[in-house]
Amino acid sequence: MAPDNGECRILVIGGTGRLGRHIVAASARLGHHTTALVRDTSPSDPTKAALLQRFRDLGVELVHGDLYDHASLVRPMKSSDVVISALGTSQIADQTRLIAAIKEAGCVKRFLPSEFWTDVDRTRAVEPARSAVYGAKAAIRRAVEASGIPHTYVLCGYLAGAALPSVGQVVSPTPPAGEAVVLGDGDTKVVYVAEEDVGVYTAMAAADPRAAGKMVYVKPPANTVSHNELLSMWEKKTGRGFRRAYVAEATVLKMIREAPFELGIALSLAHAAYILGETDFKMEPSRGVAAGELYPDVKYTTVSEYLDRLLMSTGSSERYLQGRKCLFTSVVAACCVFLCIYVWMLSGRLG
Ligand SMILES: NC(=O)c1ccc[n+]([C@@H]2O[C@H](COP(=O)([O-])OP(=O)(O)OC[C@H]3O[C@@H](n4cnc5c(N)ncnc54)[C@H](OP(=O)(O)O)[C@@H]3O)[C@@H](O)[C@H]2O)c1
Repeated sequence: MAPDNGECRILVIGGTGRLGRHIVAASARLGHHTTALVRDTSPSDPTKAALLQRFRDLGVELVHGDLYDHASLVRPMKSSDVVISALGTSQIADQTRLIAAIKEAGCVKRFLPSEFWTDVDRTRAVEPARSAVYGAKAAIRRAVEASGIPHTYVLCGYLAGAALPSVGQVVSPTPPAGEAVVLGDGDTKVVYVAEEDVGVYTAMAAADPRAAGKMVYVKPPANTVSHNELLSMWEKKTGRGFRRAYVAEATVLKMIREAPFELGIALSLAHAAYILGETDFKMEPSRGVAAGELYPDVKYTTVSEYLDRLLMSTGSSERYLQGRKCLFTSVVAACCVFLCIYVWMLSGRLG
């Protein structure tokens, strides 16, 4: 697939998304000829425009295209060795369009469909995620396998950006204040992975013959922690304790049944992670390989480092603020002492 130097031509579909942007950046940094298929190459949204400029700065080629425009998919695929899809959850089922385009292009040697969650063939998840996420991803696996296109499925736990900013609070975007809501007993192990690390492992696996026809398990050892442990870590870092409100599984299931669709998806994924323990999936050597074994030199972000980063960016740590107050007080005290000594020396001289 790849020339002797290990580089290959990688096309990313969904490269402007939450995860896709990290796959695009990692692929370009690894030296692959990277193309991102985007719906709008000159967006008016300044954030999106800045993202595309960062891609250009990294040498990424941008091509205009759309999942629902067959010819626009086939064109860039004709000069690609690998196609990586990072399409969002609502486009999972429509990835059959990518399979059809890859077949027509005829030269793609590996397809990585949009997985990036737990093992969808080994789940006890409940509806609505069971059909909308697991069922849709499993159906795409079957369609890829039936097509004969060589593939790699990248599995991972919770994307850190989806779970850690709230320290595991499912219905709140911010960390707990006063009370933390915990699904179940909080002792189930959960795996978290930073988006940029999934990006690096995905781009490495895409061009790696050892990952062909396999699952690549992204399960960083230091990132498997229970919700109780995660909350304790946060308490220690912030110097602030809070009550835990444990929600029994029966109540969680009732909430899922009564929730509107989107919230139902988020809650049923959280139920799979925090109660069923599915992000701590079993790695099966007959089906896949651990990313950490393939790429032991990748220095991934630990949960602790991610929380530190969060504290620094929000400045919300009391300990951090206390530390800064302490530093300020020490500087002021030292200035006062110097001033007193100076005044004393000056008065001595005058006297
Ligand atoms: N493990 C976890 O905790 C977790 C969390 C979230 C997601 N995921 C999984 O990660 C994968 C990526 O999800 P995400 O949240 O990163 O996705 P996302 O942020 O919603 O991004 C979707 C991408 O698809 C593009 N797109 C949408 N419609 C398109 C079309 N018609 N033609 C071409 N491109 C189109 C979007 O482009 P525009 O910029 O033009 O809109 C964007 O780049 C999914 O499989 C999802 O299930 C996992």
